[in-house]
Amino acid sequence: MFGNDELCSLRWDSASEKVEVIDQTLLPHTVHWCHLDSLSAYCHAISSMQVRGAPLIGVTAAFGLAHALSDDPSNQHLESASAALLATRPTAVNLRWALEQVTSAVSHLEPAERARAAQEKALSLRAQDIANCERIGENGLQLLRSLEVGNGLNIMTHCNAGWLAAVQWGTALAPVYKAHASGIPVHVWVSETRPRNQGSSLTAWELNRAGVPCTIVTDNSCGQLMRQGKVDCVIVGSDRTAANGDVCNKVGTYLKALAARASDIPFYVALPESTIDWSCEHGKDIPIEERDASEVLTFVGLDAAGELREINLAGAHSQALNQAFDVTPAELVTALLTEHGNFEASSEGLQRLRTVSKTA
Ligand code: MRU
Repeated sequence: MFGNDELCSLRWDSASEKVEVIDQTLLPHTVHWCHLDSLSAYCHAISSMQVRGAPLIGVTAAFGLAHALSDDPSNQHLESASAALLATRPTAVNLRWALEQVTSAVSHLEPAERARAAQEKALSLRAQDIANCERIGENGLQLLRSLEVGNGLNIMTHCNAGWLAAVQWGTALAPVYKAHASGIPVHVWVSETRPRNQGSSLTAWELNRAGVPCTIVTDNSCGQLMRQGKVDCVIVGSDRTAANGDVCNKVGTYLKALAARASDIPFYVALPESTIDWSCEHGKDIPIEERDASEVLTFVGLDAAGELREINLAGAHSQALNQAFDVTPAELVTALLTEHGNFEASSEGLQRLRTVSKTA
């Protein structure tokens, strides 16, 4: 289903050597491809969330560093460009991981060879991300098959962990796409994901494009839907997973995990190994991004005339706190769905994953 290069969030044109990304701040109303043609354009794309989602942030940063080296391959520029990209967003560890991958592929080379090698590395990270996400989909599908009881599956997700958040397939949505393609009747409850609404503006958009039935629900209705028996499982993504299995994802994930546990519903987290921060022992050590209060206090949408407008939701002088992520403790996670298989969310489970990964 993802054979078509159009159905991806970051495309590479080998003839012109151009990188283009979908500007996700304009979705779902407009599909606009942006050409990233300078280090500052890459940094802006990540910090303004034209590209977002942990795997896509990592792949974009890798191309950004390759671009920077084509301007100036010196050690000093390698360091400063990497630091500029790393500073764009704090929580998704794929950003640091991808920059380290490119740096270790080029730092031992003569400056004249670095730009080409960095570009090759970025392309291989892109290809690896697509393959890993597809494998997450296949491994997740095994679990979904075991849950199916005849009338299909109602799956709840939060934020956007689909192909817009990776290059193709996505993490949490990869098993959904695989299930849909294999004929399992799936329906997805998409929680809108205040304040930036990645659920209603991105997840619903990509599921609708793929013909997967879905319904947008308010974040606050998710516990109720679980209690009413309308949810068979929850699948979310991760921005950083600690070595003990604690998972950091879009704010609101923790409340869903609590509600899922109270209703005895499986709560799965789908992630590539690049999202595991082995240096981070516990979830409490994960840096949580705090974004501008205006995201909570205002709302952007199309008005009746089709014009994009920003409106104020709260009274003048209102204060708001905007923590963009939260941490779900490992004990609330039923399983981690990865490209290496499905594992228990615990230190032991992640050590097993590491062993499988090393022998792969
Ligand atoms: O702030 P965002 O939109 O970058 O947050 C994205 C998420 O929280 C996703 O769930 C996460 O990156 C997993 S993506 C496959």
